[in-house]
Amino acid sequence: DVPDPFRVALTLPPVLKPVRRTDSADYYEITARAASVGILPNLRTPIWGYNGSFPGPTIVSRSGRRTVIRHTNRLPVPLVVHLHGGRTPPADDGYPLDLVIPEGGSAGGGPHAGHGDTSTGSREYDYPLEQRASTLWYHDHRMDFTGPQVWRGLAGFHLVHDDEEESLPLPSGDRDVPLMICDRSFDRDGSLMYPSVDDSLMGDHGVDNDYHEGVLGDVILVNGRPWPVMEVAAARYRLRLLNASNARRYELALDPAPDGPSFVQIGSDGGLLGAPRSLDTLPIAQSERYDVVVDFGKFKPGTTVDLVNRIDDGKLGKVMRFAVTETVRDESRIPDRLSDMSEFDALDPADAVATRKIAFGRGGKQNGHETWVINGKLFSPDFSVAEPKLGTSEIWEFNTDAHHPVHVHLVHFKILGRSGTGGPALLPTDGGWKDTVDLRGGENVRVLARFGPYKGKYVMHCHNLEHEDMAMMANFVVR
Ligand code: C2O
Ligand code: CU
Repeated sequence: DVPDPFRVALTLPPVLKPVRRTDSADYYEITARAASVGILPNLRTPIWGYNGSFPGPTIVSRSGRRTVIRHTNRLPVPLVVHLHGGRTPPADDGYPLDLVIPEGGSAGGGPHAGHGDTSTGSREYDYPLEQRASTLWYHDHRMDFTGPQVWRGLAGFHLVHDDEEESLPLPSGDRDVPLMICDRSFDRDGSLMYPSVDDSLMGDHGVDNDYHEGVLGDVILVNGRPWPVMEVAAARYRLRLLNASNARRYELALDPAPDGPSFVQIGSDGGLLGAPRSLDTLPIAQSERYDVVVDFGKFKPGTTVDLVNRIDDGKLGKVMRFAVTETVRDESRIPDRLSDMSEFDALDPADAVATRKIAFGRGGKQNGHETWVINGKLFSPDFSVAEPKLGTSEIWEFNTDAHHPVHVHLVHFKILGRSGTGGPALLPTDGGWKDTVDLRGGENVRVLARFGPYKGKYVMHCHNLEHEDMAMMANFVVR
């Protein structure tokens, strides 16, 4: 039975402490293991969590300072860890076949299992983090099984800070709040329900054919709590919104709406925007991040303000509640100029050395399994959709007849324009550095990226996790 919204308090995932620091790097240790946690009232839910928690612990890094994380696998299945939005050398990027197999375990099934650079017991991931302040996240990326493994709890925040961001008078400290939004379904006994072909996740595929459109839940969680309530002062808050759902999109709004804009967007997937942008509703697709400022100072103490989802109604139309408690002194402000975007502005379509068309389509049933394809092909370790030269920029033109949140590893891109649906050439939320773009049916979306700073093989894929597990992924190789 689905619980009633707004009965439990929001919690924040714990911030992880490094086990060791050197002059140039911070070292962390994380163990993925099974745990039993309280999510629904009076019930326990078995999960798979980083350090046994869901969301996993938050990692906080400094731009330009190496962060080295040893991930140990105490689960019964292989895992792969990807830092989403990280600019990471290929060996540390969590290529989906680079499995970390549990001690004494096996690579399991799947058409390509065991073909990557496999480790046993644990693996060290070395992140240079030569990149701007931004809201990143880490999650499982095991080939063919990402959907069920993330569903069981393998996702957490990784925040990167820098001097530019810290020099701004934006809300900070306990008024800078990461919010991981995802949907889940639960059985009567409190356990998570996912339509796996094989619950051991050691067979050759993850999700049942009937769910090839994606798996949706009927409970909305924020930071792992069902429709939680957060007490806020009547002041500005920075909310780092992440849609970590497998297949659900949201169109966020505030109810009641304040006088003036509901959200002031200050950042996107790849960090701060050049200038703030006012929004009344905020569409957010799977894996996208939007940093927004909400001014609860526009509400009287005692008011409750709901974060709602305009795509759905009933309980699915609600996300969480803010309860405004007291008037306080608020020294924060949103400056007109947020971030140096000279690199972004210098990225010019006229300099692109190639334009590639990349089609996201239906693959139908192949060998008894439902599939999705990129340029007509299922994922294969040997097929690359593009081989850009290091340091050059290219225009990638995505098109589809369905609806796919398209994610490219390694780079952040500029959205140049949308066409094909008769809608506007750019959505209000298309600005700034992006690593995921929501591609809608019939649409053609052009993005521009400069490929680097590392050479090697990476993936791009649909971030509807069931589409991804049904082969909607391709390599690209930076040469
Ligand atoms: Cu968030 Cu390749 O993934
Ligand atoms: Cu898709």
